Amino acid sequence: MNGELLRTTEVPALLGGEPVRATPLPVAYDGSGRIFGPEEEDAVRDVLRRGTLTRWGGTAVDDLERAWAERLGVPHALAVSSGTAALHVALAALDLAPGSEVVTTPVTDMGTVIAILQANLVPVFADVSPETGMLTCETVAAAMTARTGAILPVHLFGRCADTAALRQLADEHGVFLVEDASQAHFSFDREGYAGTHGHLSCFSLQQSKVVSCGEGGIVVAEGRFHERAELIQNKGWLRGRQGDRAYPVVGLNYRMPELSAAVALCQLRRATEIIARRRRSYAVVVEALRDEPGPVITAERPGERASWWALCVRWPELADEPELAAAVEKSLRADGVPFSPGYIGTSPLYLSAALQRRGTEGRHGLPWTLHPEPPVYRRGDCPHAERFLKESFVMNWNEGITPDDAADIARALARALPAARAFTASSRPAGTRR
Ligand SMILES: Cc1ncc(COP(=O)(O)O)c(C=O)c1O
Repeated sequence: MNGELLRTTEVPALLGGEPVRATPLPVAYDGSGRIFGPEEEDAVRDVLRRGTLTRWGGTAVDDLERAWAERLGVPHALAVSSGTAALHVALAALDLAPGSEVVTTPVTDMGTVIAILQANLVPVFADVSPETGMLTCETVAAAMTARTGAILPVHLFGRCADTAALRQLADEHGVFLVEDASQAHFSFDREGYAGTHGHLSCFSLQQSKVVSCGEGGIVVAEGRFHERAELIQNKGWLRGRQGDRAYPVVGLNYRMPELSAAVALCQLRRATEIIARRRRSYAVVVEALRDEPGPVITAERPGERASWWALCVRWPELADEPELAAAVEKSLRADGVPFSPGYIGTSPLYLSAALQRRGTEGRHGLPWTLHPEPPVYRRGDCPHAERFLKESFVMNWNEGITPDDAADIARALARALPAARAFTASSRPAGTRR
C-alpha cells in the first residue's frame, strides 16, 4: 500500500463519509475466517463410525498428543478439555504449598487467573513492558517474595514472551516456570518455540486459536510433571497403565474427547498454512503503517516468528484521553473494522469484581485465606499495564483475513485518530476548547 492512500483527504465514515469496508471482515465468532474442511469432516465421521468417543479405545487423542509433541520437539504432550483446564492441571502438578504465590500478568485471559485460584494458589500481578504488554524479568523479580512458588508468563497475541530468561530467573530462585502459550502456537524466537522453556507449558485450542477444535487444551511438561499432569486430568488414575485403581492423587475429569482431537489433529496438520496466511496478511498492516505517524502496531523482534492470534494496535496518547479513545473505537467500527478497546476490557484483571472482593465460586475466601498476608489488589499496582490497556485496541486475527482485507484494516487504522479528533472537536459545544 502506498502512503498516499493513507493520507487521504476524504471524509471518514465517522464524519459521514464512505466506510472503508462495504462487506464485513471475516472476524466474527460465527466460524468465518477459520478453515474447517473436508479433512475435518472425514476425521469426525471416522471417529463416529468407530463408535468410540472417549480416548480409551480410540486413537485420535493419542495421535494428537504425539503429533503436537513432535512438532514442538518435546517428549510428550497431554491433550485436555480447555486452556483453562491445561493451566489448572499444570499448576496442580507442581504440588506447591497451598497459598503459595504465582507471579503472573494482569494482561491476559481470565482463564490464566482462574487456574491459579483453582489450584489454591494466590495470584500476584507483576507489571508489564509498556511496549509489549508482557512480563519482563525485571517486573517479575520485583514482584517475587519468599512465598513465590511459580512464575506464569503469557505469550500475548501470538508473540513470544521472554521465557528463556524467565526460566533462568525461576531456576535461580528455585521456583517453577509455567508458560501460558495459549495464543502462541508454534511461535518462535532465537531461544526456541513458545511453550518449550517452562517446567510445564499450556496451550488453548479454543475457537479463535491457531489450532482449534472449538474447546480444548494441551499441556507440555518436563519429566515427572508429565505423569502427575496425566493423573490429575484423569481423575487420578491411568487407565490401562495402572492395574488397580490406586488413586495416588485426586484429579479432575479434564479429558479431551476423540471428536475434538480428530478436528484438532487436522488443524495441526494445517498449522503451517494457517500460520503462513495469518503472517502474510498481518505483514500487510505492519508494512502499510510503517511510516505513518500515529498507531503503533505490535511487531516482531528480529529473529522472532509470531503466529499472530490477534492484532494489537496502540495510540499512546489515548491513555490520558478516554473521550478520544471512545471516538477512535467509533471510527474503526464506522469503517467496518471491529477492534475492541483494551484487551479483555480496558482494566487489568486485578481490578475485576471477583478479585476485588476476593470471591471465587463460593464465599469461602479461598485461596486468599491460605495466605498470612494476602495481597490487596489496587488501582495503580501495575501502571504500565493500566496504560497499555487504555491505549490499545485488539482485533482477533485469523487465516481468513486476506491481504486485501488487511489493507482495508490499515487504512481504517491510519485515519482513526484524525477522524476521532475531528469528531470530538465537532461534538463539543461551540466556544469550548480543550
Ligand atoms: C492467554 C490465555 N490463557 C488462557 C486461556 C484460556 O483458554 P480456554 O478458553 O481454552 O479455557 C486463553 C483463551 O482465551 C488465553 O488466551
